[in-house]
Amino acid sequence: MEPASELDRIQQLLPDWLAASRRLTPTGKTAAYIPGLAAAPRDALGITILGGDGKTASFGDCALSFTLQSISKVFTLMLALMERGEDVVFSKVGMEPTGDDFNSMLKLELVEPGIPFNPLINAGAIVVSSMIPGNSPEEKTERILAFFRELAADPALDYNREVYRSESATAHRNRSLAYFLKDNRVLEDDVEEVLDVYFKHCAVEVTCSHLARMALVLAYDGNDPLTGRKLIPQRCVQIAKTFMITCGMYNASGEFAIRVGLPAKSGVSGGILTLVPGRYGIGVIGPSLNSKGNSVAGVHLLETISTELKWSMF
Ligand code: DON
Repeated sequence: MEPASELDRIQQLLPDWLAASRRLTPTGKTAAYIPGLAAAPRDALGITILGGDGKTASFGDCALSFTLQSISKVFTLMLALMERGEDVVFSKVGMEPTGDDFNSMLKLELVEPGIPFNPLINAGAIVVSSMIPGNSPEEKTERILAFFRELAADPALDYNREVYRSESATAHRNRSLAYFLKDNRVLEDDVEEVLDVYFKHCAVEVTCSHLARMALVLAYDGNDPLTGRKLIPQRCVQIAKTFMITCGMYNASGEFAIRVGLPAKSGVSGGILTLVPGRYGIGVIGPSLNSKGNSVAGVHLLETISTELKWSMF
């Protein structure tokens, strides 16, 4: 008989681990500032772990669909790096964590020359959206969707119209960030057109298995181990994973690096995409958020698994 693999073991342990983490969901809240996200089930929690051989361990509310939100920023960054190159991207966006909220305006005015500190805060991601090639917002969105569909291995991946409209109608803070960037000439394109691309990539609808599939490509340095195809240059993945460690969980990134020790990116829908280098792609959903905007139960679950299995990279 074949020895049980690590994923078999994880599969057996997931029900208890999930139950323990789910107890934290009443301590958080779903994101209320985007009306389309507020109604998500607060006590939901699900995880999918996908190995390079195609085996999975999965438990909980994995069938729940949700929108990528800020998780999309990792992938638009890689697309901009692939299409425009490092020099162009880093002439408009920095490489440093902020220690501020993801939608903060503070440092844009405090620090010269007014370029966003990094591509994972809202201001930085809006600038990155403007660098995606295309002659119109529609073309840029199509380019992004084609890239996401390839990584998730799902040609049907699309953005959720209701969440997109709901964010676009209420995005007063993102609009003010974008107009400020335009005034500083960091953003050159039409503000509303750039925001349209940004809201749409944030609203791309996925499940945990899509996240795990996208993360697996990062775990294998840009190669898809399930098809053997090279999808992203290794250097672009290296840059993205470095940002995931330093800024991926916003100003809880340091704590996450200490407690979990893996590159990760969260979104206000409650999704977390993370990976174990050379081994697994992981997708988590838990819509109840802590005060930093990260899934309260999702972070706890990842801490449990990483501690038990000694997954920390550090
Ligand atoms: O721009 C926004 O505010 C959202 N579309 C994305 C923010 C987000 O996911 C931050 N995550 N923790």
